Amino acid sequence: MAEIKLENITKVFKVQRRRRTESVVAVDGMNLKIEDGEFLVLLGPSGCGKTTTLRIIAGLETPTEGRVFIGGKDVTEYPARERGIAMVFQDYALYPHMSVFENMSFALKNLKFPKDEIKKRVTETARMLGIENLLDRMPKELSGGQRQRVALGRAIVRKPQAYLFDEPLSNLDARLRIQMRAELKELHMKLGTTAVYVTHDQIEAMTLGDRIVVMRNGKIQQVGKPEEIYHRPANLFVANFIGTPPMCFFRVKVVDENGIKFLFKNGDTMTAPSKFWEKLSKYLEDEIIVGVRPEDIKPVDRNDGALNVFISSSEFVGTKILVNFKIGEERGIMEVEPEKANLIMVGKSLPITFNVEKLHLFDPETQKNIGVD
Ligand SMILES: Nc1ncnc2c1ncn2[C@@H]1O[C@H](COP(=O)(O)OP(=O)(O)OP(=O)(O)O)[C@@H](O)[C@H]1O
Ligand SMILES: [Mg+2]
Repeated sequence: MAEIKLENITKVFKVQRRRRTESVVAVDGMNLKIEDGEFLVLLGPSGCGKTTTLRIIAGLETPTEGRVFIGGKDVTEYPARERGIAMVFQDYALYPHMSVFENMSFALKNLKFPKDEIKKRVTETARMLGIENLLDRMPKELSGGQRQRVALGRAIVRKPQAYLFDEPLSNLDARLRIQMRAELKELHMKLGTTAVYVTHDQIEAMTLGDRIVVMRNGKIQQVGKPEEIYHRPANLFVANFIGTPPMCFFRVKVVDENGIKFLFKNGDTMTAPSKFWEKLSKYLEDEIIVGVRPEDIKPVDRNDGALNVFISSSEFVGTKILVNFKIGEERGIMEVEPEKANLIMVGKSLPITFNVEKLHLFDPETQKNIGVD
């Protein structure tokens, strides 16, 4: 087991385009410390540099700048095989001509482990993963979930210092993905080995991670526990990326009318939470962006103190109704309990209120969350 530290890591790829060499900055000045035993998730949209970061930790890619430390040792110049790290890929990469047992024992055989130790480790691991009755099968005779377990098993038998996972569940169907997600979490609790897990699925990140690193264009946007990232997003990008349905954003003017208020695009006003008044004083007569999550918006049956919105459509999803609405030209979505379905009339207007304690305020220029610094 080991902690992993990335110090000022930058990776620039050179790509040839029509006789010109262009530079692609995949990772841009990344500093990160992954604690011993931690389950850390790298989260971000396609192309933000997640896989490149993982490959740099694994030693499959050399950083252009910066150092990599594993267990306190500078391993930047070490080849992958000397780093004591196991990587599990999205496509499993099982050897098709080898049985499950042979796939799982391959690395140990290469490391010249004695035969009975190999057998012991493979059987123990297979039992832990519930695949002990599949050891004689060939990969093509397995289901997707079983193949995924073999790929995990192959990493576990090596008892590595750390696991690196690159979207290991993305080839599985939705139901199996949820099951394997829970199994992975239990496995990590059992093994307690440092893990770095890459995904672009924010739900996977929220459920698996002790901490989440949100990335964009090779840069870290925020590092924090899932609750911190959800309740205190550092900027508009993080706020927008985390949460389904996503946070709603409204451009409002900050006005002083017997206290600081937000003036919405449809002419309605709402009193700003007093905890923000001091910070908002420098935005008077300017616009800011108000963010609110769908679960923090509620319909009300009286008109006072409420915003009047236009209901454009509604979707019943079992435990709640998702209601799409408009304030002027801006769109929002709220979650309504099925008991209040009678209030929702598509094509009509409806008074709503926000849970003002849960509002997020963003500076439109810097995109930063005004409330969290
Ligand atoms: N070998 C390479 N040569 C040139 N450019 C590369 C190479 N590998 C990655 N890149 C570029 O670096 C950037 C980051 O790529 P990376 O694979 O790390 O993204 P990612 O976050 O894993 O994306 P995804 O979610 O799609 O897997 C992208 O712009 C990509 O095109
Ligand atoms: Mg990737």
